[in-house]
Amino acid sequence: MKAMVYRGPYKIRVEEKPMPRIEHPNDAIIKVTTAAICGSDLHLYHGLMPDTRIGHTFGHEFIGVVEEVGPSVQNLERGDRVMVPFNVYCGSCYYCARGLFSNCHNVNPNATAVGGIYGYSHTTGGYDGGQAEFVRVPFADVGPTIIPDWMDSEDAVLLTDALATGYFGAQLGDIVEGDTVVVFGAGPVGLYAAKSSWLMGAGRVIVIDHLEYRLEKARTFAQAETFNFAEYDDIIVEMKKTTDYLGADVVIDAVGAEADGNFIQQVTGTKLKLQGGSPIALNWAIDSVRKGGTVSVVGAYGPIFSAVKFGDALNKGLTLRMNQTPVKRQWPRLFEHIQNGYLKPNDIVTHRIPLADIAEGYHIFSAKLDNCIKPLIIANPS
Ligand SMILES: NC(=O)c1ccc[n+]([C@@H]2O[C@H](COP(=O)([O-])OP(=O)(O)OC[C@H]3O[C@@H](n4cnc5c(N)ncnc54)[C@H](O)[C@@H]3O)[C@@H](O)[C@H]2O)c1
Ligand SMILES: [Zn+2]
Ligand SMILES: [Zn+2]
Repeated sequence: MKAMVYRGPYKIRVEEKPMPRIEHPNDAIIKVTTAAICGSDLHLYHGLMPDTRIGHTFGHEFIGVVEEVGPSVQNLERGDRVMVPFNVYCGSCYYCARGLFSNCHNVNPNATAVGGIYGYSHTTGGYDGGQAEFVRVPFADVGPTIIPDWMDSEDAVLLTDALATGYFGAQLGDIVEGDTVVVFGAGPVGLYAAKSSWLMGAGRVIVIDHLEYRLEKARTFAQAETFNFAEYDDIIVEMKKTTDYLGADVVIDAVGAEADGNFIQQVTGTKLKLQGGSPIALNWAIDSVRKGGTVSVVGAYGPIFSAVKFGDALNKGLTLRMNQTPVKRQWPRLFEHIQNGYLKPNDIVTHRIPLADIAEGYHIFSAKLDNCIKPLIIANPS
């Protein structure tokens, strides 16, 4: 089968790989129809995730058709159209029992903090991902869900991570009616976090980025006020000014480890790799939230320490909440919002790229060319 493979930083290509096979009675093999490239894949593509091995296939956002099931699989059969959450999880350990699917204790022998993620290096278990014609899905009775007939397949693939994560970011903010919410990052996750904030009762939603075309999307898709941080000497001062010098009630970091905006942090965080990424957006979040407010972090950071303004967070009495998204936990509510017309996830899709051209897709998305916001990968025509 054809699959995207990693050959080193900024080098990926499509190669012929052996078909994945059933390795455990509860595995399924999925024929991927549509996958997506995520901002998280860029951390791998840029060589920032430790233990990203040559030959690894990325892709944690995918949907497809069940090709084969192991002998103990009960909930799926060949031919079912399924959406697969990005988490690989057992469904029954201490953490899964408490809904912490992204912290499953049974799926990642390489780390105790994070659970399993498809196509996300050996630091999250080494599972090959879905930017391929076929993918092995462990615990097939746990994660995958049959795509409802009424659901658009592009919306389904966006539910496997980006939308669920944006919604989770807003949820972690504990927004109460009338709150002012600031979202750092106008990528797919930030756009969905901004849109979701309204659904949770926000009275004002502000999105910050430096890419004007993405801020335009934040205005039209998420009805947000926008600030381009490159246009101001100090974006924190602007945030203070616009909130009566109090700060926002809730701030969401939807940027993560590769944030722009501070040279020293970038050099130490992403070039020299002395920190687990550059926590510029996170520090801006801590600075721009009001005392007693909440900072929600869904932007991804690496495992080693980062120079985060922890003392300021303490002295301001902040609540800091964060995690990798437990995707399937978000689905029941998101299905309702989509069915009721409150959310149209695929409004942010800008590119639909055949698997054969995925290297071009990574380049366009990484370099933010051609007004790219969310690229989908067509693996097998459905
Ligand atoms: N927690 C999770 O489960 C989870 C899931 C998916 C993605 N993520 C993470 O969420 C982050 C966003 O993902 P995405 O797909 O939207 O990525 P993306 O790369 O498309 O978007 C990031 C945006 O942040 C902007 N940005 C850079 N520096 C900034 C700064 N200092 N202030 C404000 N904006 C800044 C960029 O211009 C870009 O538009 C990534 O770190 C990704 O790894 C986490
Ligand atoms: Zn993702
Ligand atoms: Zn588990």
